Amino acid sequence: MVRDKNIVLGVTGSIAVYKAVEVASKLTQEGAKVDVVMTKAAQEFVTPLTFRAITNRPVATEMFDPVSEFSIEHVTLAARADLVVIAPATANVIAKLAGGIADDMLGCTVLATKAPIIVAPAMDANMYQNQITQQNIARLKERGFTFVGPGYGRLATGEIGLGRLADIEEILGTIRQVLGRRGDLAKRRIVVSAGGTQEPMDPVRHISNRSSGKMGYAIAEAARDRGASVVLVSGPTALHPPVGVEVIQVQTAVQMRDAIVDAAKQADALLMAAAVSDYRPAAAAKSKIKKERETLSIELVRNPDILSEVRGDFVRVGFAAESENVVENAKVKLKGKNLDLIVANDITATDSGFGVDTNRVLIVDRQGKVKRLPLLSKLEVAHKVLDRVVELLPKSRGRMKKT
Ligand code: C5P
Repeated sequence: MVRDKNIVLGVTGSIAVYKAVEVASKLTQEGAKVDVVMTKAAQEFVTPLTFRAITNRPVATEMFDPVSEFSIEHVTLAARADLVVIAPATANVIAKLAGGIADDMLGCTVLATKAPIIVAPAMDANMYQNQITQQNIARLKERGFTFVGPGYGRLATGEIGLGRLADIEEILGTIRQVLGRRGDLAKRRIVVSAGGTQEPMDPVRHISNRSSGKMGYAIAEAARDRGASVVLVSGPTALHPPVGVEVIQVQTAVQMRDAIVDAAKQADALLMAAAVSDYRPAAAAKSKIKKERETLSIELVRNPDILSEVRGDFVRVGFAAESENVVENAKVKLKGKNLDLIVANDITATDSGFGVDTNRVLIVDRQGKVKRLPLLSKLEVAHKVLDRVVELLPKSRGRMKKT
């Protein structure tokens, strides 16, 4: 989504500017052409040289700088931008933008651009909560500006409150989401499951498995980046909820089934990457089980098979973690669960499967065709799987009423 995109990064005068350096760096590393525009106040905190060194591009500071390529036509940046991001955005700059004031390079660029605009506010909590600021923000939102943050936490004054610049990952996630709006999954609703379920034995113990949730979270992020509206039904994981994704947290297989049956009513595709416990204790003990006896037996009962149960007219993708006969077992599951695609991997390989960031999978389709993929990052695997989902989606419609 980010590669080769022209992104204007507007930087204004806040102590949080150091985080903008990181945003510029990450975007540049991902292949974006980042044109930084700094206000005068921003230059009190860091020099343009920092951004120039990070982005390898000139930094716009002055409207009438005789040696700047931008000064020749002050709307050059605005015209070629795929996206404008203002991070950090002070209360003052937000007010100026809401009033259409264009007395510097950033104001001109924002006023002149037709590209989407993301604003990441950073300011003192009282300034943020002031009605004037709130009205300015509401006005810009009405005009289609996307806001990210601010977050709650320690502010420059040392006080705790709402006004911190959003986390870098949150800003980057919003950038990907906005750039992806016209992707090949725009207007589609994708439901993804991730992580392992936990089946309680007593108030302190549960049966679970080694799923980290990474594959499912990567699919959710990739689908978001391609413009989908994504519902992620997640078992407990240590992962951050992806920005711009509706996350439904569940613990047990039964809870996951209920959440998925509900979400699938609106789905264009369901990708079940979760490792669902096949069994659960017949009854969870009300109090902690004591170690009184040498042996302990717990009766287990079958959990619902979610993929087999969930009905509807959507593309169905299952995952199969296998330790032997990968292709044969995957084909049996594809048929048994009535899937369009199954993504299978050999979990005995150390570079693939549970917990790691890479996966070596093969994709089997309804016709029995097997496509083996090389070792890829889970995000790359996610995109390969979604490429196949896109081919299977009916051309004419998305289920979403609105984006
Ligand atoms: O049968 P097995 O668990 O190997 O099948 C794996 C696929 O089925 C995965 O996509 C998994 O999310 C899904 N599954 C399910 N409900 C279960 C068990 C697995 O939907 N109870």
